[in-house]
Amino acid sequence: MLARGMTLTTRPALLFVCLGNICRSPLAEAAFRLEAGLAGLAVEADSAGTGDWHVGNPPDLRAQAVALRHGVDISGYQARQVQPADFERFDWIFALDLDNLSALRRLAPTAPRARLSLLLDMVPGREGEPVADPYFGNDAGFDVTWRDVSDAARALVARLG
Ligand code: 4NP
Repeated sequence: MLARGMTLTTRPALLFVCLGNICRSPLAEAAFRLEAGLAGLAVEADSAGTGDWHVGNPPDLRAQAVALRHGVDISGYQARQVQPADFERFDWIFALDLDNLSALRRLAPTAPRARLSLLLDMVPGREGEPVADPYFGNDAGFDVTWRDVSDAARALVARLG
């Protein structure tokens, strides 16, 4: 029961998932927080990896740098591995690419709370496309990642707002 004067908040809770949780999904989380904030939309956002190699680590320095160039400090983020419980904690889980979408489908309980989608399915004309993994590439790849996740973040905010 709600006390008199309290209102129910229905903040959508979104989780972004890549492989390592040090490049793409922290940037997706950051871009989504940024765009939601600009739109005045209250949200819950987090990110995770399907792999466990980088658990506890901050984002890749190149990911930190591109986020900072766009005004977001992600140096305090810590990588974690996605858990089956995430399917009950979140309304919507976004895979950054098709391998991670498959991994999430294998992990998902039957009848989860969370919807599961490929992130770029939110961007008209880019349905079915992955956000390319910039980890083994150069700095310019991180600008491409930022552009992709920002396009998705804007589309998501428009959809949720
Ligand atoms: P992410 O990038 O999945 O976008 O965080 C990667 C990070 C680390 C590795 C691969 C991809 N790795 O092989 O360690």
